[in-house]
Amino acid sequence: MKGRIVSISGATIRADLAGAKVGDRVYVGTARLTGEVVRLERDMATIQVFEEVRGLGVGEPVVSAGGPLAVSLGPGLLGGIFDGLQRPLTVLRSQGGDFMQSGQDSFPMDRTTEYRFETECRPGDEVQTGDPLGWVMEGHIRHPVLSPVGGRISKIHAGLATLETPLVHFKAGDAVKLWHAWPVRQPRPRKTRQVPGVPLVTGQRCLDFLFPLLKGGVAIVPGGFGTGKTVLEQSIAKFADVDVVVYVGCGERGNEMAGLLDEFGDLRDQKSGRPLAERTIIVANTSNMPVAARESSIFTAVTMAEYYRDMGLDVLLLADSLSRWAEALREISSALEEMPGEDGYPTYLGSRLANFIERAGVVETTTGAQGSLTMILAVSPPGADFAEPVTQSCLRVAGTLWILDTRLAHRRHFPAVDWTQSYSLYSEHAASHFADRHTGWGGVRDRCRDLLQREESLREVAEVVGMEGLQERDRLLMEMAERIRLDFLCQNSFTEDAFSSPQATVERITRLIEEYDRALGQLDTGATLEEVLREAKDATF
Ligand SMILES: Nc1ncnc2c1ncn2[C@@H]1O[C@H](COP(=O)(O)OP(=O)(O)OP(=O)(O)O)[C@@H](O)[C@H]1O
Ligand SMILES: [Mg+2]
Repeated sequence: MKGRIVSISGATIRADLAGAKVGDRVYVGTARLTGEVVRLERDMATIQVFEEVRGLGVGEPVVSAGGPLAVSLGPGLLGGIFDGLQRPLTVLRSQGGDFMQSGQDSFPMDRTTEYRFETECRPGDEVQTGDPLGWVMEGHIRHPVLSPVGGRISKIHAGLATLETPLVHFKAGDAVKLWHAWPVRQPRPRKTRQVPGVPLVTGQRCLDFLFPLLKGGVAIVPGGFGTGKTVLEQSIAKFADVDVVVYVGCGERGNEMAGLLDEFGDLRDQKSGRPLAERTIIVANTSNMPVAARESSIFTAVTMAEYYRDMGLDVLLLADSLSRWAEALREISSALEEMPGEDGYPTYLGSRLANFIERAGVVETTTGAQGSLTMILAVSPPGADFAEPVTQSCLRVAGTLWILDTRLAHRRHFPAVDWTQSYSLYSEHAASHFADRHTGWGGVRDRCRDLLQREESLREVAEVVGMEGLQERDRLLMEMAERIRLDFLCQNSFTEDAFSSPQATVERITRLIEEYDRALGQLDTGATLEEVLREAKDATF
């Protein structure tokens, strides 16, 4: 299908393109810019271009790619850094310099790398769609090659193969290769959906202990400007106990993404001992890249995440930030002159977000393995107003909420997680899981929460009557709660303390609670508060 540009308005163009479908990927102009058909009126297609349109002229050709926007999936994605259209940024940079040029197209994986294809299939075997044909290893990850069709195998290649080597031939149709394309907006198939059951250890005491997340669950991290969203997500990207991490930088600062890459180069994964970069995929759509590609970037990322989930792995997708993504959606929608909804966002904001977030979960894969896709999504509402549509739409579908509080961040209490308003629907389940493995987890957790809650109400009383007006036992409680805040809830991401294992977490809080009980006992046996506190201060934690 081929047509011509009729009009151009910003990144939105109209072209006569008979036979196109909504969602089709198109190449626009002589520069072959990537775009997507977003609306059709008879033969007139409205196309959202994902790249810089400067220099584009009316009358230039528009060619349909004959299918929807898709990503390429195969071994070699790990360790890669891509833009929102899955173009490899390191390769583009070596071709075109630091500033990306419009229309540059490049395959996301290395076509020359050789993998050893192992198979138990033989010519003459009959297979069904989705049956495993064989596998290759990408580092320590086993990639099954699944049959895209059913039929009788006529020829099969075993041994070294590149991405383009024809591996399995059927009587009819093309040969199966190591890679295939998958439409980004279509969830990948699975057998069944399962209920999440295993906690995802983030290494952050306050999160794992008070507001845990389960593998396959979704956590939302709303926080105002400078409250530590990026530092928290990057820290979790380093330490989370998962097999693969997909990190989407959506409209964030380019230098932060570059810093992340540099750091990952030197760090090792705690579980496998291999370089951290080997388990990480980065999708970068920084604030200086075209806005429209930001909209597709989260779908590009989630499709790659699902691909690894389908191998029976635990995958974590981190996005920073969905507010920047929603702003892109708003900009596109207003260019299309659609009816605006709340705060100018399109009325389909909630459903589009749900399309993305619903792809998280624990699944039984088509090959019978169990894989999980967990999401941690930062939201940066303007003015830290959590009543706005993006935060609210996310909340409807998330099981865990980690609110970052501006006042805590100002006091340099990091991570600035507000323990009075954050919650996790998985709390009880995760606590019983941890309690089976780490003695004390359940009881100490209840004590800790109770202490923090009582401190809140005592603080209100103290504001009226002053600290001196409180009873000694209450003053002791205030002192110990402060200690829990400083020694337990605070965790500096730039020191050795950046990661805390569940065992270290429960030991630390147990020591603090025991200290509190001892001090209470001393008060009861006649010691003065000053004496008790002096002794507690000398205790080392
Ligand atoms: N866990 C932490 N440990 C130590 N310092 C932290 C931590 N979290 C945040 N900070 C400090 O707060 C600063 C701001 O954090 P960060 O950039 O993550 O905020 P943000 O919410 O992403 O901001 P923005 O809204 O601008 O994107 C950091 O540069 C760092 O100094
Ligand atoms: Mg940030």
